[in-house]
Amino acid sequence: MLKSKIEKALNKQIELEASSSQYYLAMASWTEAQGLTGTSEFLYQHSDEEREHMLKLVKFINERGGISVIPGLSKPPTTFNSLASVFESLLEHELNVTDSINNVVDLCLSEKDYTTHNFMQWYVSEQLEEEALARTILDKLKMIGNDKGGLYMFDRDLSLLANQKPSQ
Ligand code: FEO
Repeated sequence: MLKSKIEKALNKQIELEASSSQYYLAMASWTEAQGLTGTSEFLYQHSDEEREHMLKLVKFINERGGISVIPGLSKPPTTFNSLASVFESLLEHELNVTDSINNVVDLCLSEKDYTTHNFMQWYVSEQLEEEALARTILDKLKMIGNDKGGLYMFDRDLSLLANQKPSQ
């Protein structure tokens, strides 16, 4: 049976994963409207992955006899200043998610809930990958600057990345 402190922390994480999914969906839609098809493909996929992260938590809580709370969502932005600002926000958002996951892991240890601790390790590794990927993308965008040819290649690369990544 889940301790209520843990259940609360996991439900908070559900909310964060759901809001990540919604936020990245807004980014995907905006980039699609800018004609950046490959980038939007990548972001649509990323949004779907965040929903999967949320679902995994919902199912875990239910499996452990707790009650999952499906959150209402706040409206994400509809426009972004630039492509770089999209990925800067994405990295910033992922850093917050990592902090939150680390807090859940800490709580699991202090509450001696080793089952949830074990379950959360998947999220710890996933965050490492997601942060690294966001940093690589931002480095590429810095390199490109205002070069239109570079942007074309960047968009194509993100489409390749979206099609390579196994869905989770
Ligand atoms: Fe599921 Fe990118 O946090």
